[in-house]
Amino acid sequence: MGKNKLKKFAQNETFKHVIQPDNKEVLNGDFRLKGKWHEEFGNNNPIVLELACGKGEYSAGMAEIFPDKNFIGMDIKGARIFSGAKEVEEKGLTNVRFIRTKIDFINSFFAENEISEIWILFADPQIAKPRKRLTSEIFLNRYIKTLKPNGLLNLKSDSDDLYEFTRDESLPEFNAKTKDVQFEKLEDTSALYESGIQQFDETMQRVLNIRTFYEQMWLAQGKKMKFLSYQLNR
Ligand SMILES: C[S@@+](CC[C@H](N)C(=O)[O-])C[C@H]1O[C@@H](n2cnc3c(N)ncnc32)[C@H](O)[C@@H]1O
Repeated sequence: MGKNKLKKFAQNETFKHVIQPDNKEVLNGDFRLKGKWHEEFGNNNPIVLELACGKGEYSAGMAEIFPDKNFIGMDIKGARIFSGAKEVEEKGLTNVRFIRTKIDFINSFFAENEISEIWILFADPQIAKPRKRLTSEIFLNRYIKTLKPNGLLNLKSDSDDLYEFTRDESLPEFNAKTKDVQFEKLEDTSALYESGIQQFDETMQRVLNIRTFYEQMWLAQGKKMKFLSYQLNR
């Protein structure tokens, strides 16, 4: 492993807002903060999850826009989390935490109704492994265990495959199977910056204009950004 990565890992250990649980802590049981995240933040504000957060641009960016919400970024890659964690520290933001873990363990970290919103930004479309897509049925079933009634599931993506899979297959099929738990589509645009963004209010436009590391790469290649938003009704 490169020296630079090791340095970032070591610095992550010093950040109070970076949580790096041992797999043993979550594999066979619940993480110590499950159901206690409001205590951890010291308030009762809504908790927003950024999944596959990479460098955590949305957690850090939204934390500034919404000081009355709490943000938790989850990703398995410590060197990427380090970038977001450093930004959060430099800006003195107290409403952000990062967890270095597999999203697959989400239900070991969060209790029923603990989460108000989930954001998925530029997740890998996992072309060859549909079960690993973060909007597959497997993950949706995990999300509904922790997302509040009327909670939001938001997806921003460059990938036509992931966008179409989510919109046309996974969510409709999920809704067809679970009559009492429904994801209602609130927003759907396949050309966010060209035609979609004007329909949102000023605050949401600021949010949607946050550009992640991967988004900047895809924009430089001329790709169009897609955005989907669903509300959980039960
Ligand atoms: C394409 S990157 C996008 C990162 C960031 N959202 C962005 O837009 O720059 C995908 C990220 O998902 C993370 N990831 C993929 N599957 C994961 C899983 N099951 N658990 C935790 N992290 C995962 C990877 O580590 C990587 O940082």
